[in-house]
Amino acid sequence: MTAPVSVPHHVAIVMDGNGRWATRRFLPRVAGHKQGVNALRRCVHACAERGIQVLTVFAFSSENWNRPADEVSGLLELLVLALSREVPQLRADGVQLHFIGERRGLSARLIAGLEQAEGATAGNSRMVLNVCFNYGGRWDIAQAAQALVARGEPVTEANLDRAMALAHVPDPDLVIRTGGEQRISNFLLWQSAYSELFFSDKLWPEFDEAALAEALTAYASRERRFGQTSAQVVREPLAPLQSQIA
Ligand code: FPP
Repeated sequence: MTAPVSVPHHVAIVMDGNGRWATRRFLPRVAGHKQGVNALRRCVHACAERGIQVLTVFAFSSENWNRPADEVSGLLELLVLALSREVPQLRADGVQLHFIGERRGLSARLIAGLEQAEGATAGNSRMVLNVCFNYGGRWDIAQAAQALVARGEPVTEANLDRAMALAHVPDPDLVIRTGGEQRISNFLLWQSAYSELFFSDKLWPEFDEAALAEALTAYASRERRFGQTSAQVVREPLAPLQSQIA
């Protein structure tokens, strides 16, 4: 589907609020994460229907290892379960899956599962879904810089950009955070330099199509200037930075 210009090409989401959703229902936090997977499935579908071509979600941060052991193991199990349950449908729906983040330290079984899921969907082109797992924005910048140094390349903006974990997609146009908090929490620090931000009070398991529509409507009303003045943008609309890079 070709999207109108006001539809973002790339949407990124901090899926916050699973724990509170569960706690309010006297359920274990992991029950909230399970509902979070359902919300993610709905969101992928809704984004694909609206012509959004890249969706990037924050599933597990480098800092999430510090959560209680049962929640960490619950999240890891959920990922393994989601891989076996969701990948066939994602494959059938034309979604190309990427896992973004540090793989060192993950179990061999999990790494094999991630690689298998990526391989199974590699030929798809309707939409890219990046799942950030064991990911942190600072980790990404550091690993990119280390890669350049190891290759003897100068640490320039353009070289860093190419060495980042999301180099296969343009920068996000819109970053959404659910759960009522208004911070970035080490998500896409490099790539969100010119992203529009939208904060939703909805807890992630409650983030439905109407909530997505609200975020997209807000996005469509924003004026993106990429460092230019408003008058310049009105007179000679600048091609979005990402299309210059891509
Ligand atoms: C933040 O909510 C959410 C997470 C740390 C996990 C997000 C994971 C999913 C939505 C499920 C998809 C995950 C996999 C593994 C496929 P929170 O727990 O910090 O909520 P709170 O702020 O209410 O405590």
